[in-house]
Amino acid sequence: MQIAGSTALVTGANRGLGRHFAEQLLERGATVYAAARNPASVDIPGAIPVQLDVTDRGSIAAAAELARNVSLLINNAGSFTGVSLVDGDRSDIELEMNTHYYGPLDVIRAFAPQLAKHDSSAILNVLSVLSWVTFPGYTGYSAAKSAAWSLSNGVRLELASQNTQVSALHVGFMDTEMVSHVDAPKSDPAAVARLALNGLEAGDLEILADELSGTVRANLAGGVATLYPPSA
Ligand SMILES: NC(=O)c1ccc[n+]([C@@H]2O[C@H](COP(=O)([O-])OP(=O)(O)OC[C@H]3O[C@@H](n4cnc5c(N)ncnc54)[C@H](OP(=O)(O)O)[C@@H]3O)[C@@H](O)[C@H]2O)c1
Repeated sequence: MQIAGSTALVTGANRGLGRHFAEQLLERGATVYAAARNPASVDIPGAIPVQLDVTDRGSIAAAAELARNVSLLINNAGSFTGVSLVDGDRSDIELEMNTHYYGPLDVIRAFAPQLAKHDSSAILNVLSVLSWVTFPGYTGYSAAKSAAWSLSNGVRLELASQNTQVSALHVGFMDTEMVSHVDAPKSDPAAVARLALNGLEAGDLEILADELSGTVRANLAGGVATLYPPSA
């Protein structure tokens, strides 16, 4: 997937990782639709703001009418409520699933016909190391990111015939507002965006942004006993 000359749409482009994606896509020569719940919050010279709430199918349909000729779709928008599965607020569990699973699903369904019009096109889904492992305090979010992992694999199979590459980015903590409450080492989101776009252009289907993602990926082979060792 060549970024120069492509037309990209990034969800959640007004801040955090999405903003870096939009800026770097512009630097690499793409036309960029910067999609946001509030398009007035998009302050990226050269980007075209588009209203898009990934949990609102009407808004997605309107965005797909407005943003034409899209050949690269980046499903970046994300929420983090910290909800737990057993005793957490069910509406927060639904919010996580709506944002991370149904949202990208509906966005992909709306934009797949545009992607099909290009000889080569791509989708990048922003996932997490928490698609593969979970921790207390992250279980509701992880379940949604795991669903998004399966979504990525499913649509990759289904869109292969139209030559749409479907890549998934797995990343640990990044220094954005989402985890401003977390005291742990965090990646620079600008560096993560750069690495992800390089991987996308190289045709990588699974892009690991940091050491933690690589370690957890390797530990999948060891199964639950390796991923969740009994505490000493
Ligand atoms: N930060 C991390 O440590 C980390 C780690 C792994 C993966 N991720 C993933 O990386 C992606 C980007 O997150 P971030 O770290 O940049 O977080 P962030 O700074 O909190 O930004 C979240 C973005 O998503 C948008 N958004 C939230 N709900 C939306 C909706 N319903 N429709 C459209 N946009 C919506 C927000 O828009 P508003 O301004 O309107 O709220 C904002 O632009 C997410 O998918 C997240 O799950 C983050």
